Amino acid sequence: MSADIVVVGSYNLDLVLTVERLPAPGETCLSLSRGRSPGGKGSNQAVQAARCGARVAMLAAIGADPAGSEALQVWADAGIDGSSAPRLEVHPTGMAVILVEAGGENSIVVDAGANARLSPAHIEAATPLIAGARLVLAQLETPWPATRRAFEIARASGVTTALNAAPARPDLEEALLALTDILFVNEIEAAALAGVSDPMAAGERLLAQVGQAVVVTRGGRGAALFRRDETLVAQGAYQVDPVDTTGAGDAFIGAFVAELVASGDAERAMGRGQAAGALACASLGAVNSFADADAIAAFERAHA
Ligand code: RIB
Repeated sequence: MSADIVVVGSYNLDLVLTVERLPAPGETCLSLSRGRSPGGKGSNQAVQAARCGARVAMLAAIGADPAGSEALQVWADAGIDGSSAPRLEVHPTGMAVILVEAGGENSIVVDAGANARLSPAHIEAATPLIAGARLVLAQLETPWPATRRAFEIARASGVTTALNAAPARPDLEEALLALTDILFVNEIEAAALAGVSDPMAAGERLLAQVGQAVVVTRGGRGAALFRRDETLVAQGAYQVDPVDTTGAGDAFIGAFVAELVASGDAERAMGRGQAAGALACASLGAVNSFADADAIAAFERAHA
């Protein structure tokens, strides 16, 4: 099998509880509803890229449990090649507990499970897949040595590397950033990585550490694209009433990389990403609310 985009990342089973408001430390509150849906930043981004028409392969470590079987089904349904994803006998598939409050804000706790076992050896076993791709995309829910190995293989073959530095890690190793061509961060992640609170200053600072570009997503304030020797591109956000913001950042990134691979146009990719992110807020859960290419294009036209 071959793919244009290889995602080296996580799969989680998301358990979603809706609450009136997120509990304070020490507080117990009753949920309004419960649900379960496929998640994990890596898998979410892969699914959105595939829904945008990209040929995608997923390299995530999953367990030999029912949740792992669900992951394979999610990828098969999305047209994603999951045949290189290692299935581990003794480690359970990752799980996330997500609280969503009225207004759509959330709190997420991830139990990495099998995701924490993705190793450089697993990556090396997929060398032809990675070397034959156009772009390799990773996040920080899987071990850095595996991501580093994937990026080394990609760089050696002229494949673009993209890193979503989420969840936020102030101690991210410089070696990984140095192997990154395109860095995706939200405002919190940008501040944590750059050590400055202003997201625009953080974007400028991080650009010096990566190969090509930094994209800072700013929630309701839109997104900014920093490129060397090019003018800053700042786009405002679509105004939506969010039901659940879970996965909105993943939708942005999946749609962005799909468009970038298809057209090479980073500004257009930002627009696609913004629309995909807005649409992802319309209902509960991550991939369940992700739109396809036609719906994203229609949304952009309707809001032009
Ligand atoms: O970005 C949202 C995702 O973060 C959820 O699907 C959850 O699994 C965590 O990985």
